[in-house]
Amino acid sequence: MMDFGKLVKLSPERYSACFRAYQTVIEKKTKEDYHLFYRSNVPDSILCESGAERRVLGIGSGSGEIDSIILNRLLQRHDSVYNRVVEPSEELIERYKIRAREDTSLGAVTFDWRQQTAEEYFLDKDRTTFNLAHAVHVLYHVKDMHATLRNMWEQLADGGRMLVQIKSDAGVGGGLFHKMWEEFGEGDRLQSVFRMSCDVKQWLDGMGIISYVTSEDETNIDVTECFKENSKKGTLLLEFFTLTPYIANEPELRSMVLEYIRNNSSVVGEKVFFKSISEVIVAHKRQ
Ligand SMILES: C[S@@+](CC[C@H](N)C(=O)[O-])C[C@H]1O[C@@H](n2cnc3c(N)ncnc32)[C@H](O)[C@@H]1O
Repeated sequence: MMDFGKLVKLSPERYSACFRAYQTVIEKKTKEDYHLFYRSNVPDSILCESGAERRVLGIGSGSGEIDSIILNRLLQRHDSVYNRVVEPSEELIERYKIRAREDTSLGAVTFDWRQQTAEEYFLDKDRTTFNLAHAVHVLYHVKDMHATLRNMWEQLADGGRMLVQIKSDAGVGGGLFHKMWEEFGEGDRLQSVFRMSCDVKQWLDGMGIISYVTSEDETNIDVTECFKENSKKGTLLLEFFTLTPYIANEPELRSMVLEYIRNNSSVVGEKVFFKSISEVIVAHKRQ
């Protein structure tokens, strides 16, 4: 299947529409829920030497929703933060810039905007080191996941942390990735977008980086629209789950995914809910 998993590559605008549709059907978490989650995942040890400036590298920061929570956490202990933002999408980085201007809680952050892919960014062998480098739901999209992890790790200062959030292989969402790949994938899965937390942990283990902790984040998704025959939103959601554009042209993939979702969802009244789990992995570069 030619376009399997190629939504972002072939049609970034359509991916944006799919992502927006997805955001309307996920269980709303309050800002406080997000704060609590990232507060516990940005370890206190990053916050040591209170007062000193911290340097943060964000890979694929999007419009900065998660970044700003992480930055707020750092600003609890530090007077200032230098934040380098690597984000290829013009639309998203512009939205992030507006957020940075309007959110007064980010006043002590110095932003360094890089409208680039991770691949372009790492070509420039910059010697700046960072106390925290993060990639939140980005590693599906980079060209080479291992190279990106290695580059992020190399730019960490001694004692720094790398935080990666990615779909968990353990949840039903990860199960869907595995099943789709089994039936429709060709070649090495790591060359595709269907990457999961097990792949990141395997890389860390292979590198002898044993000092990492993990935690899980659950998202409840209302997938009712997917089962409505002519629903535009349902189509966008299925394309988001399969990362494949124009799924109507791929009836076998569409029916496999619908069957999987039906068998792994819960029905509440008239609604159908599917649960996706992502894993946050925080690795420590020991001094
Ligand atoms: C699902 S969004 C996550 C955004 C943000 N980290 C968040 O969690 O809100 C994926 C992001 O990865 C970015 N992206 C796609 N390909 C990339 C690449 N090769 N290098 C860096 N970022 C990339 C996209 O533009 C998008 O902002």
